[in-house]
Amino acid sequence: SLILQHKSDGILTITIERPQALNALNAAVIGQLAEAVDIAQTDEEVQAIVLTGSGDKAFVAGADIKEFADFSGKQGKALAQEGQDLLFNRIERSAKPVIAAVNGFALGGGLELALACHIRIASDNARMGLPEVSLGVIPGYGGTQRLPQIVGKGKALEMILSAKMVGAEEAATCGLVNAVVPAESLMETAYKMARSIMKNSPMAVSTAIQAVLAGYEDGINGLQAEINCFGASFETED
Ligand code: CAA
Repeated sequence: SLILQHKSDGILTITIERPQALNALNAAVIGQLAEAVDIAQTDEEVQAIVLTGSGDKAFVAGADIKEFADFSGKQGKALAQEGQDLLFNRIERSAKPVIAAVNGFALGGGLELALACHIRIASDNARMGLPEVSLGVIPGYGGTQRLPQIVGKGKALEMILSAKMVGAEEAATCGLVNAVVPAESLMETAYKMARSIMKNSPMAVSTAIQAVLAGYEDGINGLQAEINCFGASFETED
């Protein structure tokens, strides 16, 4: 397996285990992550998910460059489409909160993975960026859409066009990450965040995620979605 799963006190920790490639996302990792997130949706023992990378150097150093170096346009399009459908969109739409514990480099598809999560906590050694244009491509796993949503269009364009990395402090200043902590307290901080969410109604938490996402969907009136979700809350036991 290329991912490690550990369940404790309602929190599922998923660790990407490809340290020799700085946890780069190949098709197998994407498939295994998608399956784990899927199963967690109906697992009553799981109330929150924390996603991190193995080792102390990288969260995820991107999509696996070696896998797509010789791709045609058609294959490139399929890679982005399948990755978004199978994993990135599903993480964003997870009914259970997903927290990225960014423990080092989060580049390209790695940053895009963190962007699809609901909350990001970074260790002080983390470095983040979308280097794709330096490789002659553009972000393909949602980076051109989710980065502007999170940091604003100006900062997102600076990061995407310059291909430069930002350090953890700068990431916190521009809202890219929710908090920066020393590397040794990263996981505990992520768990603390998870536990603070888990104190609340799981139904209301998942409905709130749904309502927030609605505002970013084409053709959906976010305020109307909120009204509907607010009403639906009263129909639940919680
Ligand atoms: N894909 C495949 N292998 C990768 C990788 C990636 N994205 N990133 C790192 N690796 C591998 C390296 O090839 C190397 O393997 P070997 O020892 O077998 O050569 C190993 O991981 C260690 O990497 P480095 O020796 O390069 O480590 P470093 O400390 O010198 O540098 C780094 C670290 C700055 C993160 C550097 O590895 C790097 O720049 N990686 C590539 C980052 C990148 O461009 N990511 C974007 C990918 S494109 C994308 O994600 C497209 C998309 O949106 C869909």
